[in-house]
Amino acid sequence: MNDNNVSSKRRSLLKGAAGAAGLAATGILHAPAVIAQPARLKVGLMLPYTGTYAALGNAITNAFKLYIAEKGGKVGGREIEYVVLDDESEPAKGVDNANRIVNRDKVDVLVGTVHSGVQAGMVKVSRESGVLSIIPNAGFGAATGQLCAPNIFRSSFSNWQTIHPLGKVMMEKGHKSCVWISWKYAAGEEMFGGFKEGYEKVGGKIVKEMWLPFPNVEFQALLTEIAAAKPDAVACFFAGGGAVKFVKDYDAAGLKGKIPLYGNGFVTDGTLQAQGSSAQGLLTTLHYADGLEFPKDKTFRLAYAKAYKLQPDVYAVQGYDAAQMLDVGLSAAKGDIKAQKQIVAAIEKATIDSPRGRFTISRAHNPVQDIYLRQVVGESNKFVGIAWKNLSDPARGCSMA
Ligand code: BEZ
Repeated sequence: MNDNNVSSKRRSLLKGAAGAAGLAATGILHAPAVIAQPARLKVGLMLPYTGTYAALGNAITNAFKLYIAEKGGKVGGREIEYVVLDDESEPAKGVDNANRIVNRDKVDVLVGTVHSGVQAGMVKVSRESGVLSIIPNAGFGAATGQLCAPNIFRSSFSNWQTIHPLGKVMMEKGHKSCVWISWKYAAGEEMFGGFKEGYEKVGGKIVKEMWLPFPNVEFQALLTEIAAAKPDAVACFFAGGGAVKFVKDYDAAGLKGKIPLYGNGFVTDGTLQAQGSSAQGLLTTLHYADGLEFPKDKTFRLAYAKAYKLQPDVYAVQGYDAAQMLDVGLSAAKGDIKAQKQIVAAIEKATIDSPRGRFTISRAHNPVQDIYLRQVVGESNKFVGIAWKNLSDPARGCSMA
């Protein structure tokens, strides 16, 4: 349904209700009065549905919709209508796509995205338009750093946050030197910064940095260089389809048994079926794991598996929690999306009962959360322990923090 249809439906409902009230006053009409329904709330889902990150966008969408369905299709008394846009993980189209969904389709709430480069464009449009925005994955630091804003929240992580604890984990395993490898774009670079800070603080030495353009997966030459460099370990950031190929190629190059591979958990989340034996035993850090004993995690996993015949991953959790955050805000404002101050205050105060464990929201609007150490066993990223308790992003440059 387009915008015009929504508003003309609303006008005719209101006209109908007023007319019925008038006739009832004259005693002519005895039928029950028609109760006007509030207009539907337009939620824009701007996510990747094609390319390397397609599976991530789908998992976020599935779980967002699952939560809304569990609430009878409504939040804050408002029925939800979706406007869906495939951003293709294409940074060059980020601003135009965000403008399309916000200013042309006139969504009330903007949910997205996965890729940090695309997020940069979305943040620009969110700040200019003031639309309530919830980021269900992209760790783009500035969104809750220099460019933080009252109307922008994350249900996921900052790029710094999930990998900062990894250096300590690697040192505890005795790996004093490592090679870093990743895609050269905002997420890879910011994750490198978070890793380097944590690893060097405990005495680790990064002997070489290796970079590929996103979403390139030609790893062979770099794997040969890693074998020659003989570091104690390798640390990486890859996700989605690229992570599948990297882990398989690392194994096929004969490196798996020789130079231990580490990363934040995006390298093994939602990918294990495709990675098969190549991923077995890998240790990663992330804000979600398999085998958490939280009641919320158990009910979420059962409901997700029932609805989609799939096991949920970290991206699904973030989508589910984006919907929970919207519900908290909109319920406090009794469905009035224009009451943004009330919505923002309610989300800021909330403790979100997430499948990952309960989390609160920092002053910069990023989750304050435990980062887990996980190990791949079969098709699970099995919970091993807490790598860093209650970790908050430093929110450098955020005027609200
Ligand atoms: C990012 O671009 O921010 C990102 C993409 C996939 C997984 C994690 C982070």
